[in-house]
Amino acid sequence: MSEGLIRAAHDVLIVGGGAAGLRAAIAIAETDPDLDVAVISKVYPMRSHTVSAEGGAAGVIADDDSIDEHIYDTISGSDWLGDQDAIEAFVNEAPRELLQLEHWGCPWSRQDDGRVAVRPFGGMKKKRTWFAADKTGFHMLHTLFQTTLKYREVKRYDEVFVTRLLHDDDRVHGVVGIGLYSGKIQAVTAKAVILATGGCGKVFPFTTNANINTGDGMGLAYRAGAPLKDMEFVQYHPTGLPFTGILITEATRAEGGWLINKDGYRYLQDYDLGKPTPTPELRSMELGPRDRLSQAFVHEVEKGRTTDSPWGPIVHLDLRHLGADLIDTKLPFVRELCLKYERIDPVHELIPVRPVVHYMMGGVHTDIDGATPLGGLYAAGETACVSINGANRLGSNSLPECLVFGARAGRAAAEFARSAGPTPGVIEAQAADEVRRLERDLLGKESGGESMAAIRGELQATMEDAAGIYRTGPEMAKGIDTLRELQQRIGRVGIADTSRSFNTELLAALELANMLDIGECILQSGLQREESRGAHQRTDFPDRDDEQFLKHQLVYRHRDGTPRVESMPVTITRWPPGERVYGR
Ligand code: FUM
Repeated sequence: MSEGLIRAAHDVLIVGGGAAGLRAAIAIAETDPDLDVAVISKVYPMRSHTVSAEGGAAGVIADDDSIDEHIYDTISGSDWLGDQDAIEAFVNEAPRELLQLEHWGCPWSRQDDGRVAVRPFGGMKKKRTWFAADKTGFHMLHTLFQTTLKYREVKRYDEVFVTRLLHDDDRVHGVVGIGLYSGKIQAVTAKAVILATGGCGKVFPFTTNANINTGDGMGLAYRAGAPLKDMEFVQYHPTGLPFTGILITEATRAEGGWLINKDGYRYLQDYDLGKPTPTPELRSMELGPRDRLSQAFVHEVEKGRTTDSPWGPIVHLDLRHLGADLIDTKLPFVRELCLKYERIDPVHELIPVRPVVHYMMGGVHTDIDGATPLGGLYAAGETACVSINGANRLGSNSLPECLVFGARAGRAAAEFARSAGPTPGVIEAQAADEVRRLERDLLGKESGGESMAAIRGELQATMEDAAGIYRTGPEMAKGIDTLRELQQRIGRVGIADTSRSFNTELLAALELANMLDIGECILQSGLQREESRGAHQRTDFPDRDDEQFLKHQLVYRHRDGTPRVESMPVTITRWPPGERVYGR
């Protein structure tokens, strides 16, 4: 290949430097030190979104807990859409991964007797969530990052944005990326590529997700022909700060916090989630699953029992009865966030909260080892849909998911790379095309009168209207029409900034293209699923319909750019579909 066009060739290239990506890198280095592995990331790895995870990571460790109970809670939480073979593997491997992290230096919070402390979490019947105060993601990411540093074979490309996958009909061969500091556009080839770029919360206006969560990995896979699975399932977290969307962790409720409406009433007792007790009870009320709690909020709005705020209706989270000692020991970050972003002290004041988009249950379709249908392409973490989360993820299952399936994808990609043939010549032309396309935009793309910020704002507003906590067919169909118009209009957006270094205008345009594709997949999948299940609640089809819809939906991209939805069965092993029961 031409000098200059190809920056480097690796055995395995990981796109994304968060928990899943770094865990994959370590797994590869441990599996075969002769393999050449690299991590390419839009941000410096310690700025990956994992850093903002707060509440904890689930894994069976307590004496009164069992593997089967964690499996059952996860299946029931998923409204029976999670694949049970994947869930079994996940639950079995999660404790080992969390202990491994301890050995690598993760400072898990302890009980007085020195054993690892666990807290309850929503939708889980036993205490099994490991935590490091309320900065769990920060500590996990540090631990993983410092562990990668001891493997010299793990190379890094920090602050490089990947714009396309290089592939032929059979398999993937690498990526093209733009160095954000240098503005240099180059290809990096690899025998296997793992996508671990996180979620796509920025497709919606109110989200706990960082600005970087624009669904880049999902967009890359989709355009390369790999399907996206179960995209209609978007998780709202019940307690985000109203304006910023900043997460107020579920750990606040695990430690005994209450959700109250404008009358000071613990309204969740009205929604089949149990009754108030003098002490926090594992299965009841505030520790119900996220889909149910977010739906209860909407009903409170309808009953006129919420408080108006400049950012829409809110309820309040009450931690005052927990006391300063507990808050400072177990929830110090929550106190800091409230003081900095709301100018309130939760030791003495109520915290205003509302549901905000938090997590994508759907993602790049993979098998249990992270393999996509496109040879050599793997995905792990929130980017992927294995699927263990089905229609609704339980809080604290996603951090161990990154570890378990990051490691699995790493090992599988390593094996693939060991026997993969050389990069075919056709890939060079593909890389050259992409470099030309981006160079053209860097030279300045004339505006056809459209503004990127306006299109992004319209996309986000459309998604909230069409694919919010409750949806209808006509709303989603209208949303699809709007997104098609936005797809046309984005072609008329100009790039006025011609600077090479940190051209954030070009970056935002590339991200927006990913977001538009993903938005359309969410709406198309949602429109096809004519039932209500987990986080996908349709007022025009209010019941779960196992006969027709106990199945995954896969969205493929036609050559003309339009989506096509297909389906595949859910894997049921030992737990036939049943009723989701909480608080009884
Ligand atoms: O509320 C939280 O701490 C979120 C945890 C999670 O999404 O797993």
